[in-house]
Amino acid sequence: MLHLVRGSLVLFQGGNNQSNLAAVCIAHKNMMMLVVIMSLAVFACKGLVQAVPFPAPNFNDCNNYQGCCPAPYNGTISEKLYVFDRKLPMRTRPAAHLLDDAYIAKYQRAYRLLKALPDSDPRSWKNQATLHCAYCNAAFNFDVLTSSGRSSTISFEVHFGWLFLPWHRFFLYFHERILAKLLGDDDTFALPFWNWDNQSPEPPLANVIPLAFANPMYDNKVQSSLYDERRNRCTKWPNLIDLQWQLECANQTLELQTSLRQWNNRLMYTQLVTAAPISRLFFGESYTLGGAPGRGAGTLEVTPHGTVHLWTGNPNATIPLSDMGILRYAALDPIFYAHHGNIDRLWEVWKSLPGGNRKDLSQADYLNTQFLFYDENAALVKVQISQALNINNFRSGTHYSHEF
Ligand code: C2O
Repeated sequence: MLHLVRGSLVLFQGGNNQSNLAAVCIAHKNMMMLVVIMSLAVFACKGLVQAVPFPAPNFNDCNNYQGCCPAPYNGTISEKLYVFDRKLPMRTRPAAHLLDDAYIAKYQRAYRLLKALPDSDPRSWKNQATLHCAYCNAAFNFDVLTSSGRSSTISFEVHFGWLFLPWHRFFLYFHERILAKLLGDDDTFALPFWNWDNQSPEPPLANVIPLAFANPMYDNKVQSSLYDERRNRCTKWPNLIDLQWQLECANQTLELQTSLRQWNNRLMYTQLVTAAPISRLFFGESYTLGGAPGRGAGTLEVTPHGTVHLWTGNPNATIPLSDMGILRYAALDPIFYAHHGNIDRLWEVWKSLPGGNRKDLSQADYLNTQFLFYDENAALVKVQISQALNINNFRSGTHYSHEF
């Protein structure tokens, strides 16, 4: 399908040829999973042609790489961008370690209902994880016709660069809206966030697996819908999180825990303050259709985002590091969404830091990049990054504050 014309450059979407350099770079990165995020690797892949923003991928033209295709769509996709519901009440995302019993009961019910949806429903639990996987595992290809007339294919990837924060903000929003719908149109429902950057030693602790997720049973009666058996044994209570996770499970003496708190605090300070004084360093490198892929993740994406994933996944699982430590499976652990709630919150925290330079990116190629999602009514909707930058669009997040 002819997709875009700019100057002498013609771009189209839909091929399957994986043999070019860009696709190889992306496939290679996925093989290395999230470990790559930790190493701040910048791949030396060459740009192909002049860059333009990525248009929304075609869900019905998905290459089933690693079994990751979102539910196909019948009918036409509106050219119009998604319209946020201005009538939604403002919602405050609560910290997961502070939830009261009534909230946990609702939270449990929401995931029980989501997990009960049949896979024929594009909103289903499995389809949530598949959608995440599709956007990160070479499922969508864009063919690029270079100026020399040769055709190349590049794969779409929302990690390792500037698409990371806005894509996950949208993903979380639609996930949250689906849960609210399943709760019987409970528009007050807001996803809790896992406040792992909070190192306070006062109980209830924030820098552990929140209790709502920790117990395989809920209320000693039924299986918890927030539990995932594929988690690292290091995540067991009362182990504190290690934001610089090195793939070892140290015995956490009180002394080590005191040090861990300090290291975690320092790490947060580095990644949000000293190492990210300007937008490019915080958001990551540019990534456009025709530009070089995977040029580098922003500070927040590398550590702590990647390290929390790795700390949580089980290195001894049949598929090592699943669920949370592998992009393909990560969204199959309900804690994924609370983890990203915190990432989303830290984006706002970073913007609120003094100094005047911590601003959202403003390049047109960034703002005009588009994605597709299924909304709470299972309709396919189109969004673009320019819509992601104002948290008020999402009617949530008023509670976003942080102290270092
Ligand atoms: Cu799409 Cu935390 O990864």
